[in-house]
Amino acid sequence: MTNTASFRAPRGTYDRLPPGSRDWQKVVREAEDLFGRAGYFPVDTPAFEHTEVFERGVGEASEVVGKQMYTFEDRGGRSLTLRPEGTAPVVRAVIEHGLQRGALPVKLAYSGFMFRQERPQKGRFRQFFQLGIEAIGSASALTDAEVIEIGHRFLRDAGVEPRLLVNSIGHSAESCRRGYLRELQGFLTDHSDELATDDRERIGSNPLRTFDSKEAATTSVMADAPVVSDHLCAECRAHFELVQSYLTDLSVDYEIDTRLVRGLDYYTRTAFEWVAGGLGSQNAVGGGGRYDGLSEALGGPSLPGIGFAIGMDRVMEARSGGPDVDQTARVYVVALGDDARREGLMLVTSLRRAGISAAQDLSERGMKGQMKDAVRMGADWAVILGEKEMASKRATLKNLHTQDQESVDFGSIERAVRS
Ligand code: HAM
Repeated sequence: MTNTASFRAPRGTYDRLPPGSRDWQKVVREAEDLFGRAGYFPVDTPAFEHTEVFERGVGEASEVVGKQMYTFEDRGGRSLTLRPEGTAPVVRAVIEHGLQRGALPVKLAYSGFMFRQERPQKGRFRQFFQLGIEAIGSASALTDAEVIEIGHRFLRDAGVEPRLLVNSIGHSAESCRRGYLRELQGFLTDHSDELATDDRERIGSNPLRTFDSKEAATTSVMADAPVVSDHLCAECRAHFELVQSYLTDLSVDYEIDTRLVRGLDYYTRTAFEWVAGGLGSQNAVGGGGRYDGLSEALGGPSLPGIGFAIGMDRVMEARSGGPDVDQTARVYVVALGDDARREGLMLVTSLRRAGISAAQDLSERGMKGQMKDAVRMGADWAVILGEKEMASKRATLKNLHTQDQESVDFGSIERAVRS
C-alpha cells in the first residue's frame, strides 16, 4: 500500500457544497437580475492583473496592497497579483477598451472571487466572493444615491437587515482632505506615545487608518480626534448633503458615521458601508464609495466614479431564514425492471427538454427506496413504471402532496404534470 496523505483545501479557502450551493446560486442570480434592471451590464476581468494596477489603483499605503496581496512572478518575469478587489481592474478595463467614449456613465456589474492573504476567521477568507457594481463617468450625487439604493435593496431582498453607514471623506485639495490630514497628523503626533506601535508608524504614511485600529490604546485616543467631515470644502459638503437628501427621498435609512474612512486609498467624497448583526467582528457585509481620481491614477482620462462590493460569504451567513427548502426535481420516475428504466431514461430526458426538472433512480433500488428518494428530492409527482404499466403503456402518476393516483398514457405525462 502506498502512503498517500489526503489533501485539504488551503487555509482560508472553502468548498461550496450542496445543498447550500444552490441557495447561493439563487442569491447571485437575483443580484444579477436586480443590477441588470438598473442598466448595469455584466463585466468579467481576469483573476489576476499586473501588480501595478493595484499598487497605483488601491494604493501602496493601504493594508490590502501592503500586506495582503498574492503577488507572484510568472515564468516571463512579470509581477502579477491575484485580484484583491474588483474596482481597479474594472476601471483598468474601461480605460483599455475606451468604454468611456460611449454613453456615460459606463454602468458595470461583476461577481467573482477575490484574494487577500488575511488571517482567516469567521467571515474572513483568503479567497472570498464579491458582487459589485460600478458607475464610471458621472460626478452627480444622483449616481451615488442610485448605487447605494441598489446595494441596499439587494441586501434586503436577500434577507439581510443591514445598517447603512455613510460619510464623506472629501477630495484631495488643500482646502479639503489634504488640509484635514495635516491637522490629523498634528493631533496624532501630539498623542503618539499613547498610540499602539503599529498605529504610530502610520502617522506619516496613512493617518486615516488609525480610525480603523482595533487597538484599545488607539481607539481611546481617536475618540477625540478631528474628523474629516468637519473639514470638507463647500463643494464636497454640498455633494454630501445632496446624497443624503436623495437617500431620504428614496426611504433608504442611513446613519452618518463621521469615523468611517474605508481601507482603500482611491476613495473620494462619499464612502459607505453596510453592517449586519450575527457576524461577529467581521460585520461589514459590503461597502463602497466614490473614486473620482482612480482613472487618472491608472493613466486614464478624468472619470469620476462610484460603486460598491458586497461580500457574498457574509450575506449568506447574515441572512435570516437559512437555506430554502430546495426541490431537486419536480417529477421523479420510479422504474422497476430494465425495460421500465429504459423508458424512464427517455421520459426524464423529454421532460427536461420541455423545461421540467426531472430525475430517475440511477442505483436500481426497489420501489420503497425510489419513493423515498422522490420525497428527498422534494418532487411534486412520482411517475411509476412497473410491469403492469409497461404492459399497458400507461404510467401511474402519483401526486406526492395529496397521494392521489391516476393512470396516464406515456405521451400525456408532460401535459398532466403541467396542469
Ligand atoms: P472592501 O470593503 O474591501 O471594498 O470589500 C467589500 C466587501 O467584501 C466587504 O464589506 C466584505 O463583505 C467583503 N470582504 C472583504 N474582504 C473579505 C474577506 N477576506 N473575506 C470575506 N469577505 C470579505 C472593496 O473591495 C471595494 N472594491 C468596493 C468598491 C467598489 N468600492 C467602490 N466600488
